Amino acid sequence: MLSQNDIKQKLGIYAADFIQQDMLVGLGTGTTVFYLLKELGKRKRQGLNFTAVCTSNQTQNILDEEKINYFSIDEVDKLQLTIDGADEADENGNLIKGGGGALLQEKIVAAASEKLIIIIDEKKNVQTLGVFPLPVEVITFGWKQVQKKIESNYNIQTKLRYKDNSIFITDHQHYILDCWFNRILNPFELNKNLHLIPGVVETGLFVQMATTIVSGFADGRIEVKNI
Ligand code: A5P
Repeated sequence: MLSQNDIKQKLGIYAADFIQQDMLVGLGTGTTVFYLLKELGKRKRQGLNFTAVCTSNQTQNILDEEKINYFSIDEVDKLQLTIDGADEADENGNLIKGGGGALLQEKIVAAASEKLIIIIDEKKNVQTLGVFPLPVEVITFGWKQVQKKIESNYNIQTKLRYKDNSIFITDHQHYILDCWFNRILNPFELNKNLHLIPGVVETGLFVQMATTIVSGFADGRIEVKNI
């Protein structure tokens, strides 16, 4: 049986095959994508040529180490595909993302991509989204007002995200509220309604964006589902 890290590594190496010579691709963020980036570094040294757009400072730093070229999103028209991780995926390919805090850039890059390929441990496949707390990125001014509105509108608990005893600050200098919805029956509506609250920058709900879900199993199997 593979460990969780082995599954992530297998997924990363598998997903590298989606990136072909001279492609322009978006590269996601997180511990699963980490292995993809390492594999791409290796393939680059072996002659694979491609250009990337990053979804976070974390990914940019790894690309620097691996000597992989990248553009800013504003230098490109559109991307052929983006490969990213997720925290939950439902059977329609709707996602919760942002466990690593990079949801804003991830969503912008995904929206600019013709395809969004998601690589996940199969345990992240769920029937209904929401057990994983939904990350909502908010501007720092008035964040408590946003928190109050989310909590009272939906009768749920939320928590300002901390990391290493300090408030977690995103790449774009915002805060994150982790929201325990438990059961998100209509992700499209929830995403739309959360955006109506002043101060909400982005939500971790990626609705109808993923085109392929690649799931890795502990027995070594990899399953590819096109949405
Ligand atoms: C980063 O903000 C997230 O959206 C990640 O893509 C997601 O949390 C999955 O990360 P892991 O692969 O580390 O579980």
